[in-house]
Amino acid sequence: MNKWRSWCKLAISLLLVHSAAAAAESNTLSPHVNYLLRCSGCHGADGTGSKMGGIPAFPGLISSFASDDTGRTYVMHVPGVVSTGLDNREIAEVMNYIVARWGDPAVAVPSFTAAEVDARRAIPVADIVVLRRDIARQLTAQGLPVAEYPWP
Ligand code: HEC
Repeated sequence: MNKWRSWCKLAISLLLVHSAAAAAESNTLSPHVNYLLRCSGCHGADGTGSKMGGIPAFPGLISSFASDDTGRTYVMHVPGVVSTGLDNREIAEVMNYIVARWGDPAVAVPSFTAAEVDARRAIPVADIVVLRRDIARQLTAQGLPVAEYPWP
């Protein structure tokens, strides 16, 4: 092998090592992995939550809140989202993942963006339980289903 070829090989392998390191540093996990790490502990890997634990189910139900203006503010103030270590872009991606995976395809839901998450998280919510009950009443009146909710 001539010198030029071995130099090229070295340059290419250095480049590959460098880009692998850069990818690891940027620390971007997929929404699926973030869901598993940050949400599935309560909501379950299959999104069905826990009746006993008072964790609402997502399948067929989550698009009702996600299609409603106040509902979109509500989902940004649930305990798991308020206390998550995810940034606004990651929260938007996880919410879009939940809607894509478990939402009702017949209900139109706009995608969440980092800017929307930022704006909605800044809206003060005094009582999350009262807010959810109000929205749930309106959604039910419109014929949209919502998950069972045991909180008083
Ligand atoms: C410590 C347990 C816990 C974790 C972790 C958790 N959640 Fe929740 N989640 C809840 C509870 C309890 C509720 C009902 C809250 C309420 O309305 O007061 C809820 C409600 C929700 C709802 C609204 C569903 C409905 O029908 O009211 C969404 C959406 C949601 N969570 C998303 C997430 C996302 C996204 C994550 C991960 C970033 C997450 N949650 C992590 C406990 C958790």
